Formats: sequence, structure tokens, C-alpha cells
Amino acid sequence: MTAPRTFRIAAVPADGVGKEVVAAGRAVLDALAEDSRGSEDAFAFAWEEFPWGCEYYERTGKMIDDDGLDRLKEFDAIYFGAVGWPTVPDHISLWGLRLKICQSFDQWANVRPVHFLPGITSPLRKADDTELDWVVVRENSEGEYAGLGGRNLSGRGQGGEVAVQSALFTEVGCERIMRFAFDLARTRTRRKVSSVTKSNAQQYGMVLWDDVFKRVAADYPDVETESVLVDAMSAKFVLRPEDLSVVVASNLNADILSDLGSALAGSLGLAASANLNPERRFPSMFEPVHGSAPDIAGQGLANPIGAVGSAALMLEHFGLADQAARLHRAIEATTAAGVLTRDVGGTASTEDVTKALIDALNA
Ligand code: NAI
Ligand code: MG
Repeated sequence: MTAPRTFRIAAVPADGVGKEVVAAGRAVLDALAEDSRGSEDAFAFAWEEFPWGCEYYERTGKMIDDDGLDRLKEFDAIYFGAVGWPTVPDHISLWGLRLKICQSFDQWANVRPVHFLPGITSPLRKADDTELDWVVVRENSEGEYAGLGGRNLSGRGQGGEVAVQSALFTEVGCERIMRFAFDLARTRTRRKVSSVTKSNAQQYGMVLWDDVFKRVAADYPDVETESVLVDAMSAKFVLRPEDLSVVVASNLNADILSDLGSALAGSLGLAASANLNPERRFPSMFEPVHGSAPDIAGQGLANPIGAVGSAALMLEHFGLADQAARLHRAIEATTAAGVLTRDVGGTASTEDVTKALIDALNA
């Protein structure tokens, strides 16, 4: 018997419900691996868990150890929960951990599918009788989250301070995320890319984005395109979502649109995401779209489906497409059977849903 292929995964649950949903995702992945044992394509996961997050910051003054990135670099992937807690300012926790990993590891493509599940009521009436399925591709390395700017003139006294926050758009950054979006569109039934900007108001960076989009689109004559302003696109998400397939947008715009997308699918707790370094020079990071949800943390109420869907994206990244599909089927069987957490109208706990997912894998 050959040794199983082993994937080394760094788990970073971080804060709040991040801990609960990462535990759930790990249990589901371990059940999949266990089931493959002894078979010809057996695989296994070797986990190491890191304690970084807001509690760690309160204890040590650091969101991540000084050698943290060097240690993470050795893994095949990072499985992340959510970072943020009311005791630490959000910009410190987010920049100190999640954005630090994304930017240091050049995870420039953030893929966020908007996926409608059986048994879950969407606030969109249209979802009852229309096939809806689209994916938000978020530029994840620059744009509005480039971290450029500063605060000054506090010496003027109270009320006198100023701040500048600049967005950065590079041709390289725009072109690579657009090519990624077009390549993804070619794998889908509907070959279409919608580009989102606010280029009427933001006449430098976003007009550069539009120019690059036109240039890249010319290389994909088989893919339909449209350019839509972000305000109009948010209306379109609600009114004409059947017209969407791949939506590519800058860091901030795509962040907002993907929360809207997951709310339309039924809950923020359902949405999965992959932060990819497509060149594979660094590990990619898989995490639910939602944050640490301090309002429900520690009560067993967190919906683990966003985290489990993110685990499926990780399996795809590892080349285990069949296993990812199996996980998707288990998610659909679980929601269709009505095993639902409170955010989607049910009474099941995180643990109940996790158990149902594992049972569905083996059904
Ligand atoms: P949030 O996503 O944590 O919560 C928004 C709402 O969705 C809350 O009502 C919450 O209960 C609900 N929700 C979120 N995840 C859920 C789940 N798995 N199951 C059921 N309900 C769920 O966003 P919020 O409240 O704006 O931020 C809370 C903290 O999380 C902040 O510190 C923020 O900075 C951080 N955050 C971190 C992110 C990350 O690590 N990727 C992303 C977004 C926010
Ligand atoms: Mg967000």
C-alpha cells in the first residue's frame, strides 16, 4: 500500500466564531481523509494550529509572531477563521493578521462564489424559480486596501486633524485579476465577465482599470463582457442576478458586493472564499467571508457552511476536485434536509450541522 498524499495545513482560527467554524471544517475534512484511508488515492491532512488573533495580541502585543510568516510559508495552505474582537481596534487586528498574510503572500485573487442552497430561503423571490449562481472575483492586493496614506496635523488641536487614504491601481494588478476572471468565465456555462468600477467619479485609478479591462477583453472574444458602475451593480445583484456569471471588482467594491451576494443567498454565514496566490509561490488561504461575529460567538450558533465551503475550495486547489464535489453534495443534502442554524431560520447548533455534514458524506 502506498502512503497517502499528505497536505500540510496551517489552521488559524483567530477570533470569535472563527474558532467554532474552523473546528467544524477540520472535523469535516478529517472525516473525508479518514474515509479515503486504504484506497488507492488516499489522502491525509497534517494540521498545525496557530494561536494568533486578538487574545494573543492582548497577551503579547502582537497579532502574529515575528517569524509567523516564515513558518506559514512552509504549509500547503492556510485555513483561516476570522479576525477581530471588540477589545482591539479593527484596523489593528485586520492589518496585523489577515491583510498581512494576504499581502505578504501575494494572494491577489480572492474568489467568492455566491451559491444558492436547497432548503434555504433567499430574500430574493426570484431565487425560487430562477437558476442563480455567480462568483465575485476580488482584486486582493491593491486598490483601496493598499494601505497608502497617513494622518497628520493633530497639533492643530481637537477637530483639526487630517487624513489621506489613497487607492493604488497598477496595470499589472488590474491585468492579472482580469485575466483570472476571464479564464474562470471560460470554465462556466455562462461565459461572461462583468467589470465593476466607479470610474465616473474616480477618474484616475478606475479609468485605468477600465482601459485594462478593454485591452484584456480583446484576448477573450468568446467571453461576453459588460462594465457596470458599483451602485448600479448593487441594484443588479438584487434585480437581475440571473444576468451575472463572473463579477470582477476592486478590493473594496468586491468586498461590499460579496457580502450583499451572501445575504441574498440567505446568510453571511454561508459564503466561502479562497485567497489565491495563483503562481503558487506562497500558500493560499481559505476562509469564510464572514467576520468573528462577536454577537453570537461562543454559543454554538455559528453557521459552519461558509467555512466548510471554503474547505471545498481548498480541496479544489489541492487538485481533489472529486472530493470537493462530494463536500458540496453533503452541504446541499444537509440544507435540503432542514438541518439549519438560526441565521438561516433553523434551530440546529454548529455541532448539529457539522455532524449532519459528516453523516451526509458517508451516506
Ligand atoms: P460579521 O461578519 O462578524 O457579522 C455580521 C453579522 O453576520 C452578525 O450579525 C453575525 O452574527 C452574522 N454572522 C457572521 N458570521 C456568521 C455565521 N458563521 N453564522 C451565523 N451568523 C453569522 O461582521 P461584523 O460584525 O462587521 O464584524 C465583526 C468583527 O469581524 C470585526 O472585528 C471585523 O473587523 C471582523 N471581520 C473580520 C473579517 C475576516 O477576518 N475576514 C471579515 C469581516 C469582519
Ligand atoms: Mg467583508
